[in-house]
Amino acid sequence: MKHLIIKILLFIPFIAISQELLINTSNRNTTSLNGTWNYIVDPYETGYYNYRYEPYDQQLQNNNAAFYNNYHTTNKLELVEYDFDKSLTLTVPGDWNSQYEKLFYYEGTIWYKRSFDYTFSNENNRLFVYFGAINYKAEVYLNGKKLGTHEGGFTPFNFEVTEIVKPTNNYLVVKVDNKRYKEAIPTINTDWWNYGGITRDVKLIEEPKTFIQDYKVQLKKGASKIISGYVKLNNGFANEEVTISVPELKINKSFITDEKGTIQFEINTKNISYWSPESPKLYDVFIKTTQQSLKDEIGFRTIETVGPDILLNGKSIFLRGISIHEENAMRGARAYNDADALVALNWAKELGCNYVRLAHYPHNEHIVKLADKMGMMVWEEIPVYWTVDFANEKTLNNAKNQLGEAITRDKNRAAIIIWSMANETPPSDVRNTFLKNLINHSKSLDDTRLLSAALEKHYKDGFNIVDDEIGNYLDIVAFNQYTGWYGGSLEDAPNAKWNIKFNKPVVVSEFGGGALQGLHGTKNERWTEEYQEYLYEQNLKMIEKIPNIRGTSPWILNDFRSPKRVLPGIQDGWNRKGLISNHGIKKKAFFTMQNFYKKIELQYQ
Ligand code: GCU
Repeated sequence: MKHLIIKILLFIPFIAISQELLINTSNRNTTSLNGTWNYIVDPYETGYYNYRYEPYDQQLQNNNAAFYNNYHTTNKLELVEYDFDKSLTLTVPGDWNSQYEKLFYYEGTIWYKRSFDYTFSNENNRLFVYFGAINYKAEVYLNGKKLGTHEGGFTPFNFEVTEIVKPTNNYLVVKVDNKRYKEAIPTINTDWWNYGGITRDVKLIEEPKTFIQDYKVQLKKGASKIISGYVKLNNGFANEEVTISVPELKINKSFITDEKGTIQFEINTKNISYWSPESPKLYDVFIKTTQQSLKDEIGFRTIETVGPDILLNGKSIFLRGISIHEENAMRGARAYNDADALVALNWAKELGCNYVRLAHYPHNEHIVKLADKMGMMVWEEIPVYWTVDFANEKTLNNAKNQLGEAITRDKNRAAIIIWSMANETPPSDVRNTFLKNLINHSKSLDDTRLLSAALEKHYKDGFNIVDDEIGNYLDIVAFNQYTGWYGGSLEDAPNAKWNIKFNKPVVVSEFGGGALQGLHGTKNERWTEEYQEYLYEQNLKMIEKIPNIRGTSPWILNDFRSPKRVLPGIQDGWNRKGLISNHGIKKKAFFTMQNFYKKIELQYQ
């Protein structure tokens, strides 16, 4: 009988489920699914394709060979060649590479399974399963039913499971595939470790039948006394009341939804304490409907550029930054929680930073929310990195989708001042079309933040030249340069001549060089701390003289894993450009940078 029910269920096409992204999930009615999951390594995707390489989940007949069925049998004759419950376990969240030696270099499919019971707090409510991120591609199933797929390793997604979840013994199965491929975002070639797995939080979210799906509550572009935005209800209707309240600002305003269950609003305010690194004020904001009250903590600030200046709340600032990968170097693994975020941002604070470049992809929400609280401005980037397949429509749509998910998740975070479209992409017409498409998409989703990308310079007739055509479409002209590491003379660096084609703020989004912490010698010996220190001294003398310079984010806060960095005894699989080692020990250049920022801070007081 049970098999018959499963067979019948599988004939039902997808039940209408909502996949629109839920935001501010930490303040919703959630049940964590973090913890121990069973896993099966499946390099040949045996659990997904039959022997004719046809996906089981696109066939009508049920097949218990498909791993997502989590099928068990007591029939001694029946052939079943997998069993999650007898398989090993992985901890979620977390990359698999750092959890088992045998998975360190693994790139392919791993199936995850965890069971759970669920009791609704109200039988009329709805239920969603939410993933903070899965790298790289996910196929998600609940109780043998396919919920959907997601591509992109660094942005959240969710599926509605209201009609599928049972009171007991639900089994959630996820096929994770971190194989790199040319058309992906990022493409096959990157300088970071391809950590695979369910790398961020997983949670169940219970919502009323009509709930607050999405909202934006920020200062209106160019208006420092108008809080504006929208609220979008899921399963919302016209003439529903939505209230926005900010008690500290004595705001409590109600609005009526349109036929799409949405409100747009503008609320005049006064006496705002503007968010800034020096005073990261966050206000309790409540969004209420007749069925729900959702709280968020939101900062209000203005960010704009005027000529070469970046103005935060109308005041010219210098971005005292550092680049950061999403990796806890001491664990040698993906970072994923508050503790990891605190380590990274405390180091940045100690360095004298007011700003971090979260490279080269959207980091987890813990570090973004902590940046809000600590007063650390953020450059958030999508992994359009190096030589992506710019001519491929699917690649562009993938990039737009990842950009959209990042902006949807983080658009209420005052800390985020810059959306970055790309890193070191080779200029061409097709690349410019691709990036202009992303720029337009970004502006359509959020016109309140600055746009940039990490460009490159070139050298001609004695001049360092930045004239990348895409700079015309960006608010901040940022570029990476590695004088003294990938060429160029450190001795001559302070006298470098520049020709930057834009009267816009300039940010050196990367500079630096490698050093093995504890290796000492003369300043002319590559890989010594002294060489890295001298490289920083000379680059900083050059940088502070670049016309319109308004910030920098040296590469990089700490050493990080990269399969490209294999020099025995020096790199051993680590990129050594960190100012801090993978044991958390500061190198001499850390203090060179710290002193530079002390000087800059005095200049901008
Ligand atoms: C590039 C790139 C980084 C890379 C760094 C390096 O600029 O943006 O991702 O790690 O240089 O070569 O170390």
